[in-house]
Amino acid sequence: MTSNSFINTAYKKTTDFVESIPKSERKKYGQFFTSEPIAEYMASLFNFDCQQQSLRLLDAGAGTGLLTVALVENLRKSGYKGEITAVCYENDPKVIPTLVDNLETLKKAYSINYVLTKENYLTSQNFIELDLFKGTSTKYDMIIGNPPYLKVSKDSPEVKALSEVCYGAPNLYFLFWAMGIHNLKDDGELVYVIPRSWTSGAYFERFRKFLFKHCVITNIHIFKSRDKVFENDSVLQETMIIKIRKSQVKPEFITVSSSSSCDFSDIKFYYADYDTIVSQNQYVFIVTDKEEAEILSRINRQKYTLEENDLRMKTGLIVDFREQEILRNNEEDGTYPLFYSQHIKDGRVLWPVGREGEYIMTDRIGFLQENSDYLFVKRFTSKEEKRRLQCGIYLNDEHKQYKYISTQNKINFIKCDNPEIAYGLFTILNSSLYDSYYRILNGSTQVNSTEINAMPVPSKNDLELIGKELIGQELTEQNCNNIVDKWIK
Ligand SMILES: C[S@@+](CC[C@H](N)C(=O)[O-])C[C@H]1O[C@@H](n2cnc3c(N)ncnc32)[C@H](O)[C@@H]1O
Repeated sequence: MTSNSFINTAYKKTTDFVESIPKSERKKYGQFFTSEPIAEYMASLFNFDCQQQSLRLLDAGAGTGLLTVALVENLRKSGYKGEITAVCYENDPKVIPTLVDNLETLKKAYSINYVLTKENYLTSQNFIELDLFKGTSTKYDMIIGNPPYLKVSKDSPEVKALSEVCYGAPNLYFLFWAMGIHNLKDDGELVYVIPRSWTSGAYFERFRKFLFKHCVITNIHIFKSRDKVFENDSVLQETMIIKIRKSQVKPEFITVSSSSSCDFSDIKFYYADYDTIVSQNQYVFIVTDKEEAEILSRINRQKYTLEENDLRMKTGLIVDFREQEILRNNEEDGTYPLFYSQHIKDGRVLWPVGREGEYIMTDRIGFLQENSDYLFVKRFTSKEEKRRLQCGIYLNDEHKQYKYISTQNKINFIKCDNPEIAYGLFTILNSSLYDSYYRILNGSTQVNSTEINAMPVPSKNDLELIGKELIGQELTEQNCNNIVDKWIK
């Protein structure tokens, strides 16, 4: 065996392990293994000083140890001759023999020290009054990882101990990331392959605050196709590689690379201003080229938000499957219209269409909303659909006989002062510009009202004028683009 073939051998052993254990077993541990090219790419991202006497590496949730193999191999091949200590945490007993095998190979070939901890990476650390971050911990120069992707209950010990970064029922991946940040030395670097969901949304707000309090981002890689990253396991998650440094010194730019597949054969690079990617409100905008940067700066020139215009987006009121007893299929005395996302069609709201439960019989105030003019926006779209933002204009004039209406919770709505504003909001949200902006901000297929409410938009007065331009025209994306191009330069 030559020294440069360990990563291939380690990957082969990983594939053998994957084939020997049913997927359902591996899922319990959030086990998805990194492919060889991704492991090598991740390892290549670290900066280090060849003169440094020793380096301490951490691979938390090491699996078969592929990432440690890639990192050690890269360090040695790049001429690092100092002492290397690799610490691996792995709590699945079934994968430990393969991990030990790989670590022993590394030890012999590259004269490294290793420590294998078979305990839970999070809860085995130093607790102080249920606060992990207050405990002293071993610190590392380099942390590499593909953390487990697994939801944990909000009553679990790790969530209680990491309450500073948690909101709701969190996912292990960002708890591993938060702990990784805690375990980094000052100026140390962490490279993780993770889902993209942390970049926006309220669930991750506390985590982002923690991240940016301690670290800066230096590199991002995104995979443009969801299903190619963990080829063996076909994980349908949007996945990215991130590199951060534990420092408060912002780099001048963040290197953003993207590729359509996990072999990096069509990799493209873009060097984005730090503040373009990490916005003031700590959302992370993954801008991969000049066009996307231009989209961001056009929208960021708008001086208002929906909230500041008093046009707040809210989520529909009715979880229909829970309220079956008050839903009706036909109009009766005392029923009101109930709108579902299926009623949003070609920019309009078409109701009734003959589906079940289109009427609601209730006088509960929390289940009803004023029959006003609205813009309705679908909350969920499928990844095959061309647009994320799919809207319909609802004008109360069309259903004047009702004092109230109601909305299913798969719709978001914005109450408008008049039809012109509904048309104006439709024009901007139905434009290609805002759809692209939303995609840069949020990789998921869900439309989140917190993010829409924080998005820069023209003033209410301008929205009204924009709306007037669209009235009388077909509600196409092209017509919206023509108007938006005049107003938002
Ligand atoms: C997504 S896999 C990645 C494995 C490997 N690092 C790779 O990149 O191929 C995550 C690993 O973390 C392990 N794991 C899950 N929860 C853990 C915990 N609390 N402490 C330590 N390891 C854990 C799983 O058994 C699994 O092997």
